[in-house]
Amino acid sequence: CGIVGYIGDREAADFLMDGLSKLEYRGYDSAGIAVYHNGAIAIRKKAGRLVNLSNEVKAHPIVGTAGIGHTRWATHGGPSDVNAHPHTDEKGNFAIVHNGIIENYMEIKEHLLAKGYHFKSETDTEVVAHLCADMYDGDFTSTVRRVLAKLQGSYSLVFMCKFEPDKIICSKKDNPLIVGLGNGENYIASDIPAILNYTRKTYIMNDGEIAIVQKDKVWVIDFDGRPISKKIFEVNWDAEAAEKGGFEHFMLKEIYEQPKVIKDTMSCRIASDGEQIQFEELNWTPEDVKSIGKIMIVACGTAYHAGLLAKYFIEKLARIPVEVDIASEYRYRDPLTDSKTLCIVISQSGETIDTLAALKEAKRRGARSLAITNVVGSSVSREADQVVYTWAGPEIAVASTKAYTTQLVALLLLALYMGRLNGHLTADREAQVIRDLQRVPDQCRNIFDHAGDIKELAAKIKEKEDIFFIGRSMDYGLAMEGALKLKEISYIHAEAYAGGELKHGTLALIISGVPVIALATQQDVEEKMISNIKEVKARDAYVIGVVQEGDTEVRKTIDSVITIPRSDNFVLPIMTVIPLQLLAYYTAVVRGNDVDKPRNLAKSVTVE
Ligand code: G6P
Repeated sequence: CGIVGYIGDREAADFLMDGLSKLEYRGYDSAGIAVYHNGAIAIRKKAGRLVNLSNEVKAHPIVGTAGIGHTRWATHGGPSDVNAHPHTDEKGNFAIVHNGIIENYMEIKEHLLAKGYHFKSETDTEVVAHLCADMYDGDFTSTVRRVLAKLQGSYSLVFMCKFEPDKIICSKKDNPLIVGLGNGENYIASDIPAILNYTRKTYIMNDGEIAIVQKDKVWVIDFDGRPISKKIFEVNWDAEAAEKGGFEHFMLKEIYEQPKVIKDTMSCRIASDGEQIQFEELNWTPEDVKSIGKIMIVACGTAYHAGLLAKYFIEKLARIPVEVDIASEYRYRDPLTDSKTLCIVISQSGETIDTLAALKEAKRRGARSLAITNVVGSSVSREADQVVYTWAGPEIAVASTKAYTTQLVALLLLALYMGRLNGHLTADREAQVIRDLQRVPDQCRNIFDHAGDIKELAAKIKEKEDIFFIGRSMDYGLAMEGALKLKEISYIHAEAYAGGELKHGTLALIISGVPVIALATQQDVEEKMISNIKEVKARDAYVIGVVQEGDTEVRKTIDSVITIPRSDNFVLPIMTVIPLQLLAYYTAVVRGNDVDKPRNLAKSVTVE
């Protein structure tokens, strides 16, 4: 989501609408503003693109010089007028905009419902507004401090209070937030592009800091009320760089967002003891899982590749047979799907027409259905019986990266959940995988530390015409995704093969200097993989091996190495794909391609 705030002498709505227009890439399913006007807080909000809000504000202007605004990417509660931000308490004394996920919102909501509060929306954010009302002690700042102490999860939050219209208060945790410093006016934004037209002087907020923003003064305190002195950060980015958070392309920005979105996708589904997976949104019983005869996974493109991995996760951890199909094939092959089938569709956008049609076909044949999607309220989410969301945030680059890794996380969690419920997975094994999963966000950063090495490899392969990816078991599924990434943005012909399959034909193409990217992270098939690498080495291929840290064996047979931090076999794929994404990215960049918008491709394919 995108957030803005203004306090000064000018019309707040003008800045708010302009700032939001610069942040539409952060979310665009609904938007709203709140402005202090004549002793009250006036709100305008609308579902859909920002233009809807803009028309509403033109038709019903709000005059006032302090306000906050929000453009939403739905998490809890679908896109609608009432779920749009700002949210208020019942009396309209507080208005709040929020970016992130309040993880303990259900607990707070139940507590407030018991006290007689009424909720209008399905959002997690609304609890914060009611909590302000409930905890209000006559002082806006101390109320906000005490409210923040109750919240778990990730947020950037901006607060307005009717009783103290001379200030706007904001704070953040694991989400971006800046204060823009003007002359007799100050600004708040989740991201720099919103304020670039107005000022380049900013405070970059850190977790645990609270900024009290007035028109001619900004001061920052910690949660205990102690003052913090901030250094001014002078922004020297141009508008385009700012939109990409300083990264050269959206794809690179999205690759680097993976530690955060992986954490967002898993942490709300790991019980507080860290030992068990829970899916509140599914709430399955052991019988629900035991009654599944077969799982049918249907998807397109990168989402299909996530499905290929899910087959390993689910069959190994929950011992339920899984078929994976390309959505456009599934629809027309008279599939064996009945009421004992659980159909899982995977779609980042939730709008891919083939996936949607396949879902309808599975339902027509009596299957139960579950959607894994990144877009709340998308067509697929509405059509399926149940939904598990990936919390990847908007993905702008056509080549999918963070959506894929969050799909893997969601699918692995689902496999663990089913395995426990149907009795195939021991509590110890579940806890062990969860422990390794929780280390992934930090371990991803180790991979980023070696991005320079991957860039060098990209320079080595940039002139090649054909590149092969090989792997066994889960690494085979990843090889397919690695090859797709490379094809779609570098335009180099790339193909993936199961390690053992090469000798049945493709080996004929392996000649001196042909790059082979050999994924060899999976311990149980390592020896077999080494044999396959030797087969291509014997034909003088140039082999880039992807191995776990500490490997000594594979290394002996390859030309260049990429290492992945050590982890559980099921968790490794989530990290192993990252260097493949980076390799595709850097290769496309050195070849001078339009990385974010590759030729002939679209982000969301709504034609058959
Ligand atoms: C398009 C995109 C791919 C994506 C596929 C499925 O082809 O370019 O990146 O994997 O559609 O999209 P979905 O939104 O259903 O995951």
